[in-house]
Amino acid sequence: MSQKLKPAARVTGNRQDVWSIVNEAAAASPKQPVVNMGQGFFGYNPPEFILNAAKGALDRVECNQYSPTKGRPRLKKALADAYSPFWGRKLNPETEIVITTGANEGMLSAFMAFIEEGDEVIVFEPFFDQYISNIEMPGGKIVYVPMHPPEEGGFKTLSAGEWSIDFDVLERAITPRTKMLVLNTPHNPVGKVYSKAELEKIAELCVKNQIIILSDEVYDRLFYVPFTRVATLSPEVEKLTLTVGSAGKNFYATGWRVGWLMGPAELIQYVAAAHTRICYSSVSPLQEACAIGFEQAEAEGFWDQCVHDMKAKMSRFNEIWAELGLAYSEPEGGYFVMVNLSRVTLPADYPFPTHVAERPRDFKLAWFLIQELGVAAIPPSEFYTDANAHIVEDYLRFAVCKPDEVLEDAKERLRGLKKYIQ
Ligand SMILES: Cc1ncc(COP(=O)(O)O)c(C=O)c1O
Repeated sequence: MSQKLKPAARVTGNRQDVWSIVNEAAAASPKQPVVNMGQGFFGYNPPEFILNAAKGALDRVECNQYSPTKGRPRLKKALADAYSPFWGRKLNPETEIVITTGANEGMLSAFMAFIEEGDEVIVFEPFFDQYISNIEMPGGKIVYVPMHPPEEGGFKTLSAGEWSIDFDVLERAITPRTKMLVLNTPHNPVGKVYSKAELEKIAELCVKNQIIILSDEVYDRLFYVPFTRVATLSPEVEKLTLTVGSAGKNFYATGWRVGWLMGPAELIQYVAAAHTRICYSSVSPLQEACAIGFEQAEAEGFWDQCVHDMKAKMSRFNEIWAELGLAYSEPEGGYFVMVNLSRVTLPADYPFPTHVAERPRDFKLAWFLIQELGVAAIPPSEFYTDANAHIVEDYLRFAVCKPDEVLEDAKERLRGLKKYIQ
């Protein structure tokens, strides 16, 4: 290829990513159609009041044109009204909120706004994979701090809250170049909701070292234990914290690509500046629909319904692990469950393709489940560095945000694992 046509290194990783491996396995599986418990998209629609809001918005001339770059005033106000009670003060919709094209582009904007070549960003493993490329684009250096499952996690079902970071390791990871720390609570894929005490320790280090906290709280309406928002710990912490939200996750509409960042005006102004350069503004009619969604959600009882419904799905699906005698991490939030398959014996001569055979055991487990049972799940070692991948090589991540019939179908297929369990 001519040198001039050569793509930039940032888009040419030579390793196949987990999504393409799982999709390829699903396409090759003899068990069609494969039940997809892998990717975290919803298998059902947003509620009627949100859908109607979107349909109505499409009929309005101004909703089909550019929105202000920082977002539609109605959505910013609806968010300020919805979140002010958690903050214990009135959020300013003009200066403390910016609407972005999904949480993902919001986080890219935050990294673009604050990271210069060589600045360090602390990321906990397992991480949401987009963080990595988003940090590397402006030249950031990622410093990884692993989360560890509980030692008994291989044979005992324990709370996902038992996954922990070593605070000494975290403290040692901080250098004079540490600019940001990325937090995710409720956590994907672990299902952990960081306790107030854990957040206080993290925040104390960030305040002491003046590190910006990017708190990815996209699952903020799905928690099954008390949930603390790090920004609300103290005024000092709030000054350093950018909180990330996603209407896609909140309203079962991941394809709408509406997200936001909230934080102090001094930080938000630069996130907004980066966002303007990246995509100018975000989808207008769906911003309007999300505004109406936030205005009406409480009165519709939607937030309570979300927790109730997702908890029921979680319980329904996880029955299969008790039946099979496999341990899992009982989620405290979100819609993923991490299951420990250390008791599953893979046939010694199983014909794994080379690119799977050379990856950690969880990739083999995922491939095997797709081929033999027709159930797709995600190998979480993809969300660890190579050095730490072994920590989760017995785990698989299942997404339960699927219709109940799909969960039942998956359970029925997973019964086929019995003969491989010691
Ligand atoms: C932890 C986490 N953050 C961010 C996102 C992306 O959110 P959005 O779809 O709003 O870009 C996801 C989506 O899976 C996620 O799991």
